[in-house]
Amino acid sequence: MTAESYSAFYIRRLHSLLGIIPIGVFFCEHVLTNSLAFFEGPEKFNQAVLFLQGLPFVRFLEIFLIGIPILLHAVLGLIIWWNSRCNPQEYGYMRNWLHFLQRWTGIAALVFIVVHVWGMRISWTFHSEIDHVDFAYVSQVFSHSLLIPFYVIGVACSSFHFANGLWNFLITWGIAVGERSQRNLLALCGIVGIVVFCGFMFSLAAFVAPGA
Ligand code: HEM
Ligand code: HEM
Repeated sequence: MTAESYSAFYIRRLHSLLGIIPIGVFFCEHVLTNSLAFFEGPEKFNQAVLFLQGLPFVRFLEIFLIGIPILLHAVLGLIIWWNSRCNPQEYGYMRNWLHFLQRWTGIAALVFIVVHVWGMRISWTFHSEIDHVDFAYVSQVFSHSLLIPFYVIGVACSSFHFANGLWNFLITWGIAVGERSQRNLLALCGIVGIVVFCGFMFSLAAFVAPGA
């Protein structure tokens, strides 16, 4: 291996690892916390947010375990994309299509996350009377009805990106080796993606129509 291909190898491995640890772990925690709004009600959601915001070194964790890893994964993803070719029509296999979609849903996730984090995490910090978000705040954000289709599409792309990314991760790291185990794990990751998408959609319904 040349020095250049060594660094390309490690860049891809770092990119892959970041997609699951810590980003994928945060993603799963995030759907669980938000879906409390639907399954347990506003009070439980508020308690969960308070608990998370009360964690020691929470700002440090937000920056170093969420913000920087997402930024690094996004930048490395764009570099990998720039440096390699992906043309599904040329081959036509399902894997090529999944790879093609993996890349485009990464871009969609980037747009979604920028808008979402601005609205839910950054914009209110300029108002000194708000200490942290709660159910009422999130519900009021969704009074802008155009945000609802934006969220449905953004969450669908992010859930696909996570689920198919998880499957790629299992292959990249040698966990899914044989053809049969790869096929079974593809089905399992598909189920994970659907569950995560539904969890976010239930939470969206709770915020959009509180008390319904
Ligand atoms: C912030 C915007 C994001 C961008 C621009 C992005 C970009 C990408 C790209 C381009 C790939 C494919 C790389 C290749 O061609 O091999 C990829 C793979 C992946 N992404 Fe993302 N991504 C983003 C967000 C996320 C999020 C939020 C998650 C987790 C919830 C995630 C998890 C993964 C995983 C697990 C992989 C597969 C890694 C592997 O092949 O082993 N990404 N990402
Ligand atoms: C219906 C869907 C969603 C809802 C209702 C929602 C809600 C929220 C809320 C209320 C916050 C602020 C949390 C706080 O300040 O403690 C937040 C932050 C955040 N969300 Fe979401 N979210 C959704 C989907 C997503 C998705 C799909 C992603 C990833 C692709 C995502 C990524 C983030 C990130 C990165 C933050 C900032 C985390 C932090 O700094 O603590 N969210 N979200």
